[in-house]
Amino acid sequence: MKRVYNFSAGPSALPVEVLQKAADEMVSYGDSGMSVMEMSHRSSYFIDILHEAKKLFKELMNVPDNYEILFLQGGASTQFSMVPLNLLAKSNKCDFMVTGSWAKKAYQESARYGEAKVIASSEDKTFSYIPKVDSKDFTPDADFFHICVNNTIFGTRFTPDNLPDTGNVPLVGDMSSNILSEVYDVSKFGLIYAGAQKNMGPAGVTAVIIRKDLLGHAKDFTPTMLNYKIHADNDSSYNTPPCYAIYICKLVYEWVKANGGVAGMEKANKEKAQKLYDFIDKSKLYKGTVVPEDRSLMNVTFITGSDELDALFVKESKKAGLENLKGHRSVGGMRASIYNAMPMAGVESLIAFMKKFESENA
Ligand SMILES: Cc1ncc(COP(=O)(O)O)c(C=O)c1O
Repeated sequence: MKRVYNFSAGPSALPVEVLQKAADEMVSYGDSGMSVMEMSHRSSYFIDILHEAKKLFKELMNVPDNYEILFLQGGASTQFSMVPLNLLAKSNKCDFMVTGSWAKKAYQESARYGEAKVIASSEDKTFSYIPKVDSKDFTPDADFFHICVNNTIFGTRFTPDNLPDTGNVPLVGDMSSNILSEVYDVSKFGLIYAGAQKNMGPAGVTAVIIRKDLLGHAKDFTPTMLNYKIHADNDSSYNTPPCYAIYICKLVYEWVKANGGVAGMEKANKEKAQKLYDFIDKSKLYKGTVVPEDRSLMNVTFITGSDELDALFVKESKKAGLENLKGHRSVGGMRASIYNAMPMAGVESLIAFMKKFESENA
């Protein structure tokens, strides 16, 4: 069976053990005689899968008891609307740090419903850094403060100890591309959301961790399906949930747990990222596009300085079994997404290819 090293930013590589387990259970799950894809979401089989997924996710993320975990649909993009519809409950004001395209989209969507303010932006330098902020500039009575914790396209991240201190204002974090990659203190957030398709499972399910006091304040005109409280009251099964995607997330959670939990992922991710960034920093051909202190562990962006060479790199790397290294269409260059499921061997293969390419093209 051919497997390539897949550096896609999303949907992304899943652990091969997870895919194999899913294959084993594909036609008949347990003694059910049917696939998870075929069973009722009200069946005891599926309810057990859902509860186990929630339990494992809670355990892995060390989610305090005053938070609810929801499995929703509509991707992270739907959260750009759900967050303001549900959280703009008092002052109708919210703050944003615009550190990339997704953060900007989230800001633009909130601005449709409330008074959204950009506290800082790094657009002046192609989102290559995380701006320094002073909490004196924050809106003291804002209903929430939104950040995109890992900027998938540009390769920057807020580290766990560099989150803005928003005091009593709930911090909302888009962790679509770094959920389960590194230990973050959930209690520092009012709400975390993450589309599953990078580090947690297939496309089709979005996990939300929301502090319980933030439930139940949705605007009157909020569509029922966009109301967090409806989903919380109905155990994420108000309508048919994305059953199969949740099942795969459960398998991924089991895999994460068996491999040292989030702390284990963090250790491996730091080793992988360090190795790749060190190589880029020492090379004469490649240049990282992000300031070192804000570098993502998940999405490593780099260029050669020549569009032609970048294009050749992408073409040649594909021939070498290294897939999806092209940077996002809005920035060009290269991006190696090295999520939890990317083994060190994949990073080493990439570095070996980069060395060879450099010696042939420098
Ligand atoms: C950080 C981040 N937020 C939001 C999104 C949008 O996610 P979705 O396609 O699930 O709506 C993405 C997609 O790549 C992302 O990387």
